[in-house]
Amino acid sequence: MESVQQLLERLATGVIRQSVGADGAASVRPCGNPKFGDYQINGLLPIAKARGENPRPLAEKVAAALAPALADIAEPPTVAGAGFINVRLKAGFVGSLLPQVLADSRLGVPAASPARTIVMDFSAPNVAKTMHVGHLRSSIIGDSIARTLRFLGHNVIADNHIGDWGTQFGFLLHGFKQEKLDLATAADPIAEMERIYRNYYGASEADPSIRDAAKAELVKLHDSDPENLALWEKIRDLSMPAFDRVYNRLGVRFDHTLGESFYHPRLAGVVADLKAKGLAEDSEGAVCVFFRDVPQLKDKPFLVQKSDGAFLYPTTDLATVQYRVETWKPGEIIYVTDSRQKLHFEQLFTTARRWGYADLKLAHVTFGSVLGEDNKPIKTRSGEPIRLEELLDEAERRAQAIVDAQNADLSEATRHEIARVVGIGAVKYADLSQNRVNDYVFSWPKMLAMQGNTAPYLQYAYVRIRSIFRKGAETDRGASSVKRECVALADAAEFDLAKFILRFPEAIELATEDYRPNFICSYLYELAGKFSVFYERCPVLKADEPARSSRLILCQLTAEVLRRGLDLLGIQTIEQM
Ligand code: ARG
Repeated sequence: MESVQQLLERLATGVIRQSVGADGAASVRPCGNPKFGDYQINGLLPIAKARGENPRPLAEKVAAALAPALADIAEPPTVAGAGFINVRLKAGFVGSLLPQVLADSRLGVPAASPARTIVMDFSAPNVAKTMHVGHLRSSIIGDSIARTLRFLGHNVIADNHIGDWGTQFGFLLHGFKQEKLDLATAADPIAEMERIYRNYYGASEADPSIRDAAKAELVKLHDSDPENLALWEKIRDLSMPAFDRVYNRLGVRFDHTLGESFYHPRLAGVVADLKAKGLAEDSEGAVCVFFRDVPQLKDKPFLVQKSDGAFLYPTTDLATVQYRVETWKPGEIIYVTDSRQKLHFEQLFTTARRWGYADLKLAHVTFGSVLGEDNKPIKTRSGEPIRLEELLDEAERRAQAIVDAQNADLSEATRHEIARVVGIGAVKYADLSQNRVNDYVFSWPKMLAMQGNTAPYLQYAYVRIRSIFRKGAETDRGASSVKRECVALADAAEFDLAKFILRFPEAIELATEDYRPNFICSYLYELAGKFSVFYERCPVLKADEPARSSRLILCQLTAEVLRRGLDLLGIQTIEQM
């Protein structure tokens, strides 16, 4: 359905065109200060400027012409500042929209128009290494963006570009052969892989012969040596279940898992084509793309083939763009990685545009590091990266202790389920609620707190509302069965909450504009706060009609928006905690 913002934009644009005869368009933003109104109409300043007029009288004229069009919607609009128009919504109008929002599958958020095909490249761990906390951010930020774009109606294709072809395989293959290890009988194959990689990679720093041997094994693999291919396949197949365990726990899913190896057959063709088109050139035996005309990339060539003939990460990524466009014809590809890969993606995007993909939108969504209490990238006591599975175990364990203390009366299975949802939710929310480009300090007590901007606080807010419905047994069938044309909003707290529910679309817009899930978090946190004020001031089940039904609709809407908003963050809700 049309959002309030869109409605006001449409009406104001119509009036501007009619009463002023200008073909400008109004842009509507929420008022920074509620004292002045709910929404502010902008767009008159550029028109006045173009005409050499004073914007103030122009705004007065538009405001006067707008008043009749807004008669049912808002108080007579007022002019402020240099020439903005402030609009204050009427309770009757807001109340009449709420039942429509409740009936709407997107809770009032307008569908994307046009809907596009969007490929999302996120998570992408490297085979034979366990997922560590660094992969957490890419996985959950990417998943949340994918969920939100899907919610808007886009065709989202989540493709996990796992690293299954890189230099780590040289060391693994060499190590496995040296030790004559049989992976099939190893008790913990992943641990074996990690140990071998660590040992041989570590030793190669002091002993170049190991590095050379590893390189030779890698070249053999890339040349399809049957023995190496078979071993590689085994390593890869053994790694996948560990990734899947993490994805299942996180509730993250992919439509495709096409690793780097998938693109190997295309790489030679990519380099040849780049050379044929004059985009890449030989340079000291290697092949590079130069960006001589791009100031910030002037002395940063993009290496697509090494002098020994090997292809690289950039080559694979170019082949991947080509494959995705051929196969899915997306309008956009979004990559989610930490900010250290900024240069790589700048080079990749610039090359792709020149290579014929100028119409494809390419976005690199970056994020900062997860820090420990010491403000340094988080590590275990012994200095290793923290394994993601262990981190999730600890989240659930800590949540379990809280749940056990608070809900001794619930069955063990129920407490376990609550702990799982709360623990995982807390980890995710602590991450997603940050501005993603910043580093953040990982703190268990903070993320598990029942007060403040945390998942447990929002999950509890949801539970509390659901319990209102459980208490009023006869209304359990839902306020939705209360067929009201219009929700009565007599109390200021009701009105305030209702208007804020109508602003869910704005939060979604902010979150998708620049791929920032944290806008959904702040919206939900504010929503829960407004609900608290409302609930303190306005009795629900004990109120007389029509207030009772109206308030139940407000409760139900708040619960639905909380649940949906958390779902867009990949966070589950529960019915009790
Ligand atoms: N495997 C890479 C890493 O762990 C991330 C891959 C990101 N996606 C891509 N298309 N380059 O750093």
